[in-house]
Amino acid sequence: MKRTAIYPGSFDPVTYGHMDIVGRGRILFDHVIVVILNNPGKKTLFTVPERLEMLKESMKDLTGVSFDTFDGLLVDYARDRGVRAILRGMRAVSDFEHEFQLALMNRKLNRNIETVFLMTGMRWFFTSSSIIKEAAMFEGDISDMVPPNVYQRVKARFKEMKKA
Ligand code: PNS
Repeated sequence: MKRTAIYPGSFDPVTYGHMDIVGRGRILFDHVIVVILNNPGKKTLFTVPERLEMLKESMKDLTGVSFDTFDGLLVDYARDRGVRAILRGMRAVSDFEHEFQLALMNRKLNRNIETVFLMTGMRWFFTSSSIIKEAAMFEGDISDMVPPNVYQRVKARFKEMKKA
C-alpha cells in the first residue's frame, strides 16, 4: 500500500526549513502532497500562484512529491483524496500551542485523520517565513535560509514595494 501524507502550509515563501520537513517526510511516506492553504491569520507577501511556482522550483529534484492549492478546510482536502496523515514541522516551544490547537481542531473535524509532527532540523530552528520576510524587508541577508530562486524573488518583491 502506498503511504501518502499531506504537508499543508502558507509557504509565503518556502524556506529550507520546509524543504527539510518534506525531505524527511519522504523517508516515512511514499508520497508527500505539499498543499498551499489559506491561513486567515496571515497577510501574505506572495500570491498563491507565485508561492506554488516557488515550491515547484525549489523541490523540482525531489521524487514522490507533488504540489497543490486548496481553498477550504484541510481535513476536507485530505478526505477527498483518501489521505489520513497530515505532516507538520514543529520548531521550539513557540510553535507548540498553535500546532496543538490546529491538530486538535482537525481531529475534532475528522477523527480519521492524524497529524504527524517532525521536529524541525536544528539548523532551521529559528527559520520562519515571517522572520525571513522581516529581515529581507530591512535588507538583512537571508541567503542561507531560502533557496536561491526564493531569495531572488523576495529581494525583487521588496524592491518593487519600495518603488511603489
Ligand atoms: O504555514 P502555516 O500558516 O502555519 O499553515 C497553516 C495552515 C494553512 C495549514 C492552516 O491555517 C490551515 O489548515 N488552513 C486551512 C483551513 C483549516 O483547515 N484550518 C484548520 C482548522 S480550523
